[in-house]
Amino acid sequence: MSKIIAIANQKGGVGKTTTAINLADTLGILEKKVLLIDLDPQANATSGVGLVPLDIKYSSLSFFTNTFKPKYNIVKPDSAHFDFIPSNIRLASIEVNKSKSIDLFKLKRALANIIENYEYILIDCSPSFGLLTLNALTASHSVIIPVQCEFYALEGLNKLLRTIKSIKKTSNPNIDIEGLLITMYDSRTNISNQLREELIKHFESMVFNTVIQRNITLSEAPSYGLSIIKYNPNCIGSENYLNLGLELIKKNTNELTDQKLEKDLTKILTHDTEDVDYIINLNKLKKNNIDEDYSHLIGLRKDEINNVLGFSYNDIHSNVWMYRTTTSFSLIKKNYLYLYFENGKIINYKLSTFRIN
Ligand SMILES: Nc1ncnc2c1ncn2[C@@H]1O[C@H](COP(=O)(O)OP(=O)(O)OP(=O)(O)O)[C@@H](O)[C@H]1O
Ligand SMILES: [Mg+2]
Repeated sequence: MSKIIAIANQKGGVGKTTTAINLADTLGILEKKVLLIDLDPQANATSGVGLVPLDIKYSSLSFFTNTFKPKYNIVKPDSAHFDFIPSNIRLASIEVNKSKSIDLFKLKRALANIIENYEYILIDCSPSFGLLTLNALTASHSVIIPVQCEFYALEGLNKLLRTIKSIKKTSNPNIDIEGLLITMYDSRTNISNQLREELIKHFESMVFNTVIQRNITLSEAPSYGLSIIKYNPNCIGSENYLNLGLELIKKNTNELTDQKLEKDLTKILTHDTEDVDYIINLNKLKKNNIDEDYSHLIGLRKDEINNVLGFSYNDIHSNVWMYRTTTSFSLIKKNYLYLYFENGKIINYKLSTFRIN
């Protein structure tokens, strides 16, 4: 599965770039194939991995000028465990977009050519809702929202969630919140503890369990062009980002733990139980596209379905096969494809949604 994740918050200095670099690196260390895109004209991620932004010839600007060429645009920074597409100040020209030639789907279209080469594509966004960030949110399956532990942290959050909802309505119906990530946490301060409590109260499981603590080493590493693990593997920042990588992977691969599966099933089976005899979870499937037409599956046998869709999940408690069409946490609902079997063959399909909790 390839997953594109934007790291966004219109608030400046909340830890987007620090998270982008270090999460990309830990995912790479955890043997995932990762691409990090610097989509911020400030180019902090670019300098943070040891490149000089003004020396960059091929930047993420090429996504918008139709000149993107993987061979030139994608680099492998020294000592990083991920591929990288740098940025520099010239990217700011996109926000002006005088000729109105750039639409919201420009980045999404350009990424379609390389998405299959990666398991995770992370996009470091700028602190604004300009055309660049809107392109990132349109191209992404989900968003990580770093929330800095400070007094005003919650103020911009509602605006951000409203923007994501409007993106959901307009250019990207499947976008999910991957998680709210608490950054610069200091357990000695009241504000840190209060903010964490507030976030968990309002957003519950949307908040990552992993908390990124305030750690001076995290702010030193970029000036050496290194990720935190390379700079100092033993500091608390390394431990935090490694945990974040593990939590993200777990969330995306192990979503159907037995317990969760049973909970979901109870809900499904209470309103849909006829003529069905298996459950299939295909959330590793390539696309999150609820408009996809599944009618070609009708008539196929279970083993043929496995071949077509490439992944299956059989559970002894269940008697439906389903395909969850969204991964991770949806703001509102989840979408499932139900496959109805009779004598081992699919006789019908249906797309349904239900709310979580
Ligand atoms: N957990 C942390 N502990 C200490 N310092 C941190 C931590 N996370 C980030 N910083 C520092 O805080 C500053 C802002 O972080 P960062 O650049 O990652 O934020 P950002 O959201 O990308 O900012 P911008 O909105 O300008 O792009 C940087 O100097 C960074 O080194
Ligand atoms: Mg930044």
